[in-house]
Amino acid sequence: MAVDLLLGLQWGDEGKGKIVDVLTTNYDIIARFQGGPNAGHTLEFDGIKHVLHTIPSGIFHKSAMNIVGNGVVIDPVIFKKELDNLKKFNLDIKSILLISRKAHLILPTHRLLDAASEAAKGKAKIGSTLKGIGPTYMDKTGRNGMRVGDLELSNWKEKYRALANKHEAMIGFYNVDIEYDLDELEADFFAAVEELKKLTFIDSEEYLFNAQKEGKKILAEGAQGSLLDIDFGTYPFVTSSNTTAAGACTGLGVAPNKIGDVKGIFKAYTTRVGSGPFPTELFDEDGETMGRVGNEFGATTGRPRRCGWLDLVALKYAVQINGVTELMMMKGDVLSGFKKLKVCTAYNYKGKEISHFPYNIEPENVTPIYTEMDGWAKDLTQMTTADELPPALNAYIDFLEKELEVPIKIVSVGPDRTQTIYR
Ligand code: GDP
Ligand code: IMO
Ligand code: MG
Repeated sequence: MAVDLLLGLQWGDEGKGKIVDVLTTNYDIIARFQGGPNAGHTLEFDGIKHVLHTIPSGIFHKSAMNIVGNGVVIDPVIFKKELDNLKKFNLDIKSILLISRKAHLILPTHRLLDAASEAAKGKAKIGSTLKGIGPTYMDKTGRNGMRVGDLELSNWKEKYRALANKHEAMIGFYNVDIEYDLDELEADFFAAVEELKKLTFIDSEEYLFNAQKEGKKILAEGAQGSLLDIDFGTYPFVTSSNTTAAGACTGLGVAPNKIGDVKGIFKAYTTRVGSGPFPTELFDEDGETMGRVGNEFGATTGRPRRCGWLDLVALKYAVQINGVTELMMMKGDVLSGFKKLKVCTAYNYKGKEISHFPYNIEPENVTPIYTEMDGWAKDLTQMTTADELPPALNAYIDFLEKELEVPIKIVSVGPDRTQTIYR
């Protein structure tokens, strides 16, 4: 059986959590392959709104196994909070959640290093989620990291101490004022590690290999979005992992020729949280309306998300890099009531019209070129079938399909599981 992928195509927060939850009924296994608690994946059903950070979004379906893959970075403290928040749902977590031994651990000092690095950058800061993501992946690639499997060794605390001591010296190097009580942070960390150790650690690549042989259906859940990819995103304003399709191979140990459908998810407009260029960003009433109606606040940090029109230059680039085979358009309902909609179909780049995503999209180089389309007034949130969708929305969808050359299979019209229209 092939492994299907679900990936965000913009700057994150496209609605991955909702769609993975919806799709889980079709899968036996949901596997996260990268990122960590910088992610905030929101699910809504039965009047409940729930945000997951590290735990895969299939967790509410008792029928599915959820795997945290080797490419993920885990903060035991946040993980424990996530587990505590799930207690009220009476799930048998130990039997539906497995953790890769090769996943790296976020130490309290990784979080401090993230804060120190951001403070030292001043105005040039990345606007990271301050969850220690960058420093943890730096230790991974620098071959200094601690992995989940290390917790099974009797001397893991010695390894921890050596790394934490090094981090403390590095924090000093940044020469910035950050206050912390490491004893307190460590007490929380050690308590949380004990909780993590109660779960089942596996060699997830072997588990997934066998599952494929047994014909199990597997969906790999991405975090962040393609424009935050460490290689292909708007560097340096990106995260520290490969958020694109190839990341699922390295983050789970799945061979490239075993990848099946690549489901790409995007908002009907664009948002971004944190620093970095965003050509179609709006600073007017339209942007304010998108933020208010779309409730655009970060699910992890609560920061307001920057909003703007759909950027087809960027979206085409993401479709291309990921080899997207089907698309899902989220939050179309948020655009109801706009008389006119704009879609960016090309950039004016240093005075020349281009339709590819260039090396540098800083505002001084790039001005978006828009195609204007009619909006629709109707409320979409109660609609359940494709034939109810208003003609102007169908025209918007047809236009995007033609430009992107990939079918839009799902149109989401609200945050709830049930507000999902198949085409
Ligand atoms: P993720 O990180 O990709 O899982 O997305 P987030 O959960 O961070 O952000 C998406 C937000 O939009 C969440 O608050 C969802 O509940 C909400 N959402 C998802 N789909 C829709 C939709 O079609 N319409 C509306 N109005 N909200 C949606
Ligand atoms: P989900 O999975 C949106 C952004 C941060 C910052 C940059 C680097 O919910 O879509 P990091 O903490 O990773 O070092 O921050 O990436 N960022 C996200 N933005 N959604 C996310 O995840 C994000 N994860 C990181 O705001 O600009
Ligand atoms: Mg999110």
